[in-house]
Amino acid sequence: MDRPGRHNRPVPIGTATAPNPVFAAPMAGVTDLPFRVLAREQGCGLVYTEMLSDKALIYSHRRTERMLTIAPEEHPIAVQLLGSEPGAMAEAARLVAEAGADIVDINLGCPAPKVVRNGEGSALARDPEKAAALVSAVVRAVDRPVTAKIRKGWSPEEVNAVELARRLEGAGVAAIAVHGRVRTQFYSGQADWGVIGEVKAAVRTPVIGNGDVVGGPSAEAMMDLTGCDAVMIGRAALGNPWVFAQVREFLATGREAPGPSPEERVAMAVRHLQAIVAHKGPVIGLLEMRKHAAWYIHGLRGAARVRSRLMEATSPEAMEDILRSFLVGLEG
Ligand SMILES: Cc1cc2nc3c(=O)[nH]c(=O)nc-3n(C[C@H](O)[C@H](O)[C@H](O)COP(=O)(O)O)c2cc1C
Repeated sequence: MDRPGRHNRPVPIGTATAPNPVFAAPMAGVTDLPFRVLAREQGCGLVYTEMLSDKALIYSHRRTERMLTIAPEEHPIAVQLLGSEPGAMAEAARLVAEAGADIVDINLGCPAPKVVRNGEGSALARDPEKAAALVSAVVRAVDRPVTAKIRKGWSPEEVNAVELARRLEGAGVAAIAVHGRVRTQFYSGQADWGVIGEVKAAVRTPVIGNGDVVGGPSAEAMMDLTGCDAVMIGRAALGNPWVFAQVREFLATGREAPGPSPEERVAMAVRHLQAIVAHKGPVIGLLEMRKHAAWYIHGLRGAARVRSRLMEATSPEAMEDILRSFLVGLEG
């Protein structure tokens, strides 16, 4: 039985609308154009780019320019910016809007030491006033919705998500994504969904819940517990774009769809390989595909052995052969 309306509706984000509440998290080194196209194909409601540094955009590094390429089938798409100076962020946001972003997202959660040392990401979130000033400059600079992605706080002793969210709402954000971990946790331990509920209760803007959603039941549980308007899925989508279709199916029907067969996994890995090579060329494409290929076959019998062969493949064709012969091995 279909369950329309129950966690299964479009999510308005300012003037943009995500067609459904199952979003893909921004992941540096992962959520490039080929990944995002596959996620959208599986029905993901909103994709995010990898974080892009304001300065890199302004000084137009070639790699960053490629990171700003958006395919027509990706919309709606949020482009995520990382920076700490209002002027530079406003300028970067204008470039991002020109490139076709539907939403400009601001990273206030990255825990990486080199980011924190620059006063960006989760370091900026420690100072809600400064973070709000930054957001406000970006809101003034562009004619499209601006969102923010935050963490629970800096440390167990320094939890400030509710205060920060209120400030950001005052500065004009159209939605807030909350990752239920503090900075000092990086990605370890369990995400605290309670704080997502507290933020939801404190602001009127849509709240996107993030942390440890791995499938339909956990997505529904997070939405039930926190009242969040959408869920954002990160690591469970690595080598697994099907997770978006599975979660949507579960939210709509309460049924868990079966996972992909080994044949489907290999076929998707080969398509991903071809897309990444078309987008980045054979050298970078092959290097970047190594981790994706390993994720696609993770958990299948004999995957560990094939993994080391994948890492040594010297051409896209060789990698495709390794993937296909792995399947033959599985049948035997
Ligand atoms: C490899 C990797 C790269 C990430 N890069 C970003 C990023 O660029 N911007 C960001 O806001 N969060 C980034 N994150 C955090 C995720 O967006 C997400 O908040 C986190 O993985 C928790 O969600 P999950 O439990 O569904 O994985 C990254 C996470 C991973 C694992």
